[in-house]
Amino acid sequence: MALKQNEAWGTRVGLILAMAGNAVGLGNFLRFPVQAVNNGGGAFIIPYLVCFLLMGIPLLWIEWSMGRYGGRSGNHSTPFILDNMTKKAFWKYFGVFGIFTNVAVAAYYCYIESWTMSYVWHSLRGTFDGLSQSEVAQFFINYVDVAHSMTGIPYEAVVFYVLCLALNTFILSRGLRGVERAAQIGMPLLVLFGIFLALRGLTLGTSGASEEVPGASAWDGINFLWTPQFDSLSNPKVWLAAAGQIFFTLSVGMGTIHCYAAYVRSKDDIALNAVSAGFTNEFVEVVLGSLIVIPIAAGYLGLDWVKENAGFGMAFQTMPYLFEKWGPILSALAGVMWFGLLFFAGITSSLAMGTPWMGFMRDEFGWNRNKGALTFGLLVLALGLPTVFFYQYGVFDEYDYWAGTVSLVVFALAETILFSWIFGIDKGWAELNEGADIRPPRVYKFIIKYITPLLLSFVFLGSLFTPLGNEWQDAFVSLFAGRGWQLDDSSLVQMVANSGLNKQIASATDPDTIAALKDRKFFVNMTRLLLSLTFVALCGMVYLAGIRRSRVADQTAKA
Ligand code: TRP
Repeated sequence: MALKQNEAWGTRVGLILAMAGNAVGLGNFLRFPVQAVNNGGGAFIIPYLVCFLLMGIPLLWIEWSMGRYGGRSGNHSTPFILDNMTKKAFWKYFGVFGIFTNVAVAAYYCYIESWTMSYVWHSLRGTFDGLSQSEVAQFFINYVDVAHSMTGIPYEAVVFYVLCLALNTFILSRGLRGVERAAQIGMPLLVLFGIFLALRGLTLGTSGASEEVPGASAWDGINFLWTPQFDSLSNPKVWLAAAGQIFFTLSVGMGTIHCYAAYVRSKDDIALNAVSAGFTNEFVEVVLGSLIVIPIAAGYLGLDWVKENAGFGMAFQTMPYLFEKWGPILSALAGVMWFGLLFFAGITSSLAMGTPWMGFMRDEFGWNRNKGALTFGLLVLALGLPTVFFYQYGVFDEYDYWAGTVSLVVFALAETILFSWIFGIDKGWAELNEGADIRPPRVYKFIIKYITPLLLSFVFLGSLFTPLGNEWQDAFVSLFAGRGWQLDDSSLVQMVANSGLNKQIASATDPDTIAALKDRKFFVNMTRLLLSLTFVALCGMVYLAGIRRSRVADQTAKA
């Protein structure tokens, strides 16, 4: 049997902050605004909220219930949490997703986290003072081009990445108390910084309008996001994007919530805690997340610019330049707050990613915290250095796609079926209600059993067979006209075949371009190989753990 861990959360507030910290992450500030803008602003919000209610809340309740249930018999990571709920060996291997996703996501997530660390430092030092917009943008490009940092620190990106991992490892080695403490410090500061910057965004008005964009107003950005547009409700592309964002932001389908919940005492509430953490995340996302980047960028650069340039770069390539306009002192302060906020959001999430691995190694192989934390750090370093060094070859994006997008949907769909149909919704519902401080509405029993799995299947099929150009209407018309279903290169099926890259290679004429594309394809394939091997290796460990368990069980039976 598993080594008994009697570690548990210190306080209820600590638990909620840690869970909220797990959910509140870079996704809230960097991913949400971009998804919203790319999917039509106000058109995105309704599907997003519906997905929160029909998939987000149900998955939170499922995962908290599964976690506490597993923790009761000493299981703190998904392989044996799932195993504990069924009799089929398959599920414990399926549970590997709940460790794999965390380790693989941590590899690229900590890289972004390390950028925020370095940008805090550069904001303090005034590195961006007096730089033009293109110079600020170039700073970032050089930064990720690892060997070409502009600040005289050789291999600066690597230095900060290692520093950031070391900090994560150190806090993790302190165990649950360390994680709880980090959340107790990080979350309030994050909200404080967020409110300051959001107020600044709200009060910017038209004062940001420059000669190039006369009339630009911060309110344009806010109105664009918050004017509901009902016509988009029939567009599956928007729905898929909304569902994807809900997954990522709530950290569901990843195994982290199960792990955290496994440390909840078995009679303590989960129903209310889950909802509290979930709503905290939504507040930070839809209120703070949408009141910073979009209005500030729209105020200075105009809404059209924002629509065209919505992307990851806005946070790093644009914000430091926009802050400059607030004078030297306020700009340094705003830079520190903005990147500091991102850093706190990031670290409370990356710490969560470390816990499933540590819990697993402790349960199954008796590893102590130091050993667990250190091996996590090394594992992430080994998987992460390729994203740092070969960022330009798309290694980073590949991690984000397979570990940060596809895995979540696959895992969420399977666990919902397991919970409702194999373990049984009646038992599941009873587990959720055990010790509950609220009475979850009964419709949710129905939603969890039928609606959530159905929606998850749509999301999964939609990503598997995304139609050409993401044009669903055209695709169905073509299907019914007997012309078949044309797949987009971004569909999972075409991604596996590298069909987008292959087409680019086939149509390129310039030898340098062809060589660069072929390099890219090589790196993409190697990344997939690396990720697959990681998954297989984790399955191997689960197999070994299974053998150990049956050996121990035999001995106990004999004794
Ligand atoms: N929810 C986090 C965010 O919004 C991301 C995150 C937290 C995550 N824990 C995770 C992603 C575990 C993958 C795996 O940024």
